Amino acid sequence: MSTPLIDPFLRPISYLRVSVTDRCDFRCVYCMSENMTFLPKKELLTLEELDRMCSTFVRLGVEKLRITGGEPLVRRDIMTFFRGMTRHLESGALRELTLTTNGSQLGRFADALFDAGVRRVNVSLDTLDETKFADITRWGRLGQVMKGIDAAQKAGLRIKINAVALKGFNEDELFTITEWCAGRDMDLTWIEVMPMGDIGNEDRLDQYWKLDDLRARLGERYTLTDLPESTGGPARYVRLEETGQKIGFITPLTHNFCESCNRVRLTCTGELFMCLGQEDNADLRAALRNHPESDAVLEAAIRSAIERKPKGHDFDYSRQTVDGRVSRHMSHTGG
Ligand code: GTP
Ligand code: 5AD
Ligand code: SF4
Repeated sequence: MSTPLIDPFLRPISYLRVSVTDRCDFRCVYCMSENMTFLPKKELLTLEELDRMCSTFVRLGVEKLRITGGEPLVRRDIMTFFRGMTRHLESGALRELTLTTNGSQLGRFADALFDAGVRRVNVSLDTLDETKFADITRWGRLGQVMKGIDAAQKAGLRIKINAVALKGFNEDELFTITEWCAGRDMDLTWIEVMPMGDIGNEDRLDQYWKLDDLRARLGERYTLTDLPESTGGPARYVRLEETGQKIGFITPLTHNFCESCNRVRLTCTGELFMCLGQEDNADLRAALRNHPESDAVLEAAIRSAIERKPKGHDFDYSRQTVDGRVSRHMSHTGG
């Protein structure tokens, strides 16, 4: 076994998020602009290249692999890639193979995902109101996502709902969403909206709903107990004593969690972003494509990229302005 990946701040890197496509069948307002131009297919890593890339990371100590997009399930033949990763679960090298999805295609793929060894899926869903859902996703239909969630649960997949906390949008649904998740035995995580992509800055400030406030509101109805556990992601969890359910908070703005960051992100063209909130990235595609004979150059490129991992993001709304913005869209790195 080779030396594990450790960054300059002594954080071990064990979690790789892989965006397998920049495309999506939705156009969520905080994620994409309405007229996105997508990458030409030839720019994408092929499924074989994605396999080789991920397998190299696994060899270097990555234990958690999360597939993202855009919407990962719209990538053609993506199940071939998932099935390829099953061997790393079977060998014990990989502890978790999972994905973050908008849920629209789960009806088609839930069984195949379970068969490939996926046990947990994060589904992004910000509202339970059909009209609001259509507004925020621009192109999405709530009914289709609900069918996807049904299929996933039927297939045996555990679900975590990810909701972006948006003032004036889903504030009034705090308890409805909570109760819906409790009723279906799903975990729920709230996320603070981050300033990514060229999408109206004033809107971000207007929409920003601090999770400290959200938590206090939950506390008015439920007894919250902090949980020490982690899924290896950035969320901190509480248990609602009355329902027994687990609620997560992802708070890049109010409580920075960068000091315990264990992850890096690979885009569908093979760029490695060492931080979601910074622009620096490394081109791993060249190291991979130009050296079919061995993975040595790729491994060296990964190691040298990790040596540049920054301390954290600079997102900040506290001065009533949007500071630390990053120009690329969230869909580029898959969150
Ligand atoms: P679990 O395995 O369930 O813990 O998943 P996760 O929270 O790691 O992944 P998910 O795809 O559900 O991510 C939820 C949100 O957390 C997304 O909006 C991500 O953008 C955000 N997120 C994940 N990692 C980071 C990070 O390092 N920095 C920031 N600022 N946000 C992050
Ligand atoms: N801020 C916070 N979360 C976002 N997501 C997409 N764009 C943003 C943003 N600007 C979320 C999606 C999904 C996850 C991958 O990222 O809702 O749950
Ligand atoms: Fe698609 Fe997810 Fe972005 Fe919405 S947030 S447009 S579902 S990638």
